[in-house]
Amino acid sequence: MREMPTETSSRRVSPPKQLSDNPVVRVLDDARAEVKVRARGAYPPGPQSFSFGRTLQAARDPLPLLLSLYEEYGPIFSARLLHHPVIFALGPEANHFITVAHPENFHWRESSFGDLIPLLGDGLLTIDDAYHDRAREIMMPAFHREQVSASVAAMTAEATPAIERLRPGQVVDVYAWMRGVAMRIAMRALLGLDPDEAGKGAAAAEHFERALGFYGTDFHLRLLRGPGSPFSKMTRSRAVLDEIVYGEIAQRRARPDPDKMDILSLLIGVRDEAGEGFADKEVRDQVMTLMFAGHDTSTSTLTFMMHELARHPDVLAKLCEEQDQVLGDDAPDIDRLEREMPYLEMVLDEVLRLYPPAWIGPRRAVRDFEFIGHSISRGAYVNYCSWASHRLPEVFPDPEAFIPERFSRERKAALPRGAYVPFGGGRRICIGKRFGQIEVKLVATMLLQRLRLDAMPGRVMTVRQMPTLSHRGGLEMRVLPRQ
Ligand code: HEM
Repeated sequence: MREMPTETSSRRVSPPKQLSDNPVVRVLDDARAEVKVRARGAYPPGPQSFSFGRTLQAARDPLPLLLSLYEEYGPIFSARLLHHPVIFALGPEANHFITVAHPENFHWRESSFGDLIPLLGDGLLTIDDAYHDRAREIMMPAFHREQVSASVAAMTAEATPAIERLRPGQVVDVYAWMRGVAMRIAMRALLGLDPDEAGKGAAAAEHFERALGFYGTDFHLRLLRGPGSPFSKMTRSRAVLDEIVYGEIAQRRARPDPDKMDILSLLIGVRDEAGEGFADKEVRDQVMTLMFAGHDTSTSTLTFMMHELARHPDVLAKLCEEQDQVLGDDAPDIDRLEREMPYLEMVLDEVLRLYPPAWIGPRRAVRDFEFIGHSISRGAYVNYCSWASHRLPEVFPDPEAFIPERFSRERKAALPRGAYVPFGGGRRICIGKRFGQIEVKLVATMLLQRLRLDAMPGRVMTVRQMPTLSHRGGLEMRVLPRQ
């Protein structure tokens, strides 16, 4: 196996401190942190005793728990989950405070995002402050409109044959289907690999899925170490991925190709304002992070959209009418998807209100601060939660109902700031927002130009929330002709 590069670029900012991935060390650190937080002040009100039932509910079905604690305690409360108290801040004001007004109070790395470090390393999701800001500045051009527009070719190339393979009468697991499409799009658009090439694209896709599987396993299984454990399987797949990604980086550094528009190639070429670029490890960590952050999210969003459209024929009819008027049989392009299909946008917004895939925003307070009369000490775990915030009846009346009209231009503009945060907010708002939106819109549009997907009678949907919101056990639907 190839030796991994160790060089780093001459950075103006120091790299983040390494955290232990030993679960015992993490639990002890949490216990010490709780003592320090308590010494500086109380946690906000909420259930503080250890409760296995509460911990299990938080892991399996957190939404009712969070909404009932919000009812009882208001927009900020704390609850002991497993071994330590976690603060939750819900609603528009809390979301705005954490993401836009005072992001400097928080770190992502020392929150549960830190659990991703063994696979992702030091990518955008697991770094903070100046180190993060420099990386984000370097990466931004890769997500500008022109670049996403270039990725539309990869999206169309992958969606077309996948849709053509669907046959009327067939039952398809839409979640698994879209997962396959999204992974192939990611291989092409992010890594610039051919997803059918056995040694590279196909292997990278397979091992990325395997590595991701670790983050979908139950928390207690993730704590295990040693041969045969989910952790060791994840590290084995990581080694294969590393070999492929580092190999690609070396090849592109040796033979730069200005025509290559994939994001890996761009990240190798881009420079910050001081003229410095990413070192190999930085490129590797960032692309792995993009693959992670972009894969599940788009998959789940498309699946939830199909689920809701099957339940709301009136919405589907309106969507298809818009589609017919704007596109007819033409393939969708970024201009028309973004500018000429407002109802599609409203449907997508409503899907992301009800099911924001990245439903929780985990943080660690790095300084003491006040929020609506509560003093929070540094060291505390603080989460905002789009999923629960989007279900507050005082903000979104009749919150369980699927009503895309809530997101008409006027009504969306009238929402309180921080009310709607499916992509987070502020300077760390999702960097792949446009990429993800276009991917979901494009695949949904192409699918509905040819076919209909109908719900299976008697099938009840249950939502799973790790690592992102998705359908537990997939979503089987029947393929019908368009008519
Ligand atoms: C429907 C699709 C998507 C949704 C709903 C979504 C949602 C989010 C949310 C909520 C955050 C902020 C998390 C927080 O505040 O704790 C975030 C951040 C991020 N997302 Fe997305 N995302 C999507 C697609 C993508 C795609 C396609 C990519 C990459 C290709 C991506 C890359 C990232 C990255 C790197 C961050 C961290 C940004 C930073 O810290 O500067 N996302 N996303």
